[in-house]
Amino acid sequence: MPPLYSFAVLTVSDTSASSGPSTDTSGPHIRRTLESHPSDSFRCSVHAIVPDDEGEIRGKVEEWIDEMGVDLVVTTGGTGFGVRDTTPEAIQPLITRPTPALTHALTAHSLSKTPLAALSRSISGIRTRGGKGGSGSGSGSLIVTLPGSKKAVSECLEVLLENGVLLHALELCT
Ligand code: MTE
Repeated sequence: MPPLYSFAVLTVSDTSASSGPSTDTSGPHIRRTLESHPSDSFRCSVHAIVPDDEGEIRGKVEEWIDEMGVDLVVTTGGTGFGVRDTTPEAIQPLITRPTPALTHALTAHSLSKTPLAALSRSISGIRTRGGKGGSGSGSGSLIVTLPGSKKAVSECLEVLLENGVLLHALELCT
């Protein structure tokens, strides 16, 4: 039996939050890609859409990790330079163990695809759960913030999935 990791997807977008889920392509793409991964190791627990609001973003992710015990949270959107782009600021206080090399790997691969990747302020890290919930030993949950476009999400998922990085990360931190 492969290990089964629970994950949550948070789409951060003023447009999708006001116009409805049909405008969200990146969130469902993350969900489908992880759930159809050949390792059969990922199960989506929850997917939500919130506007670019720091408090709402942080509240959802905190609830999903601390109360539901999800192993992985992937956010999409709100990482740019715009005044409403606050995903990094929302997530930063939740991170107890930063994972700068993972962020670097995502950035390096993204920059090999487009110089516009320099316009993302994406971050990643582990939130220690202190034994609450989850499918592993309960030590932590991984949070990865991806840019908002489906193209960017696809390129970042290549880094996470094609060489076992994500699975090994979850083996180590959950
Ligand atoms: N990263 C990858 N891999 N591919 C892309 O096309 N687009 C960039 C960047 N990162 C992009 C990318 C662009 S155009 C922007 S504005 C920033 O992500 C921020 O996107 P966000 O505000 O939707 O999070």
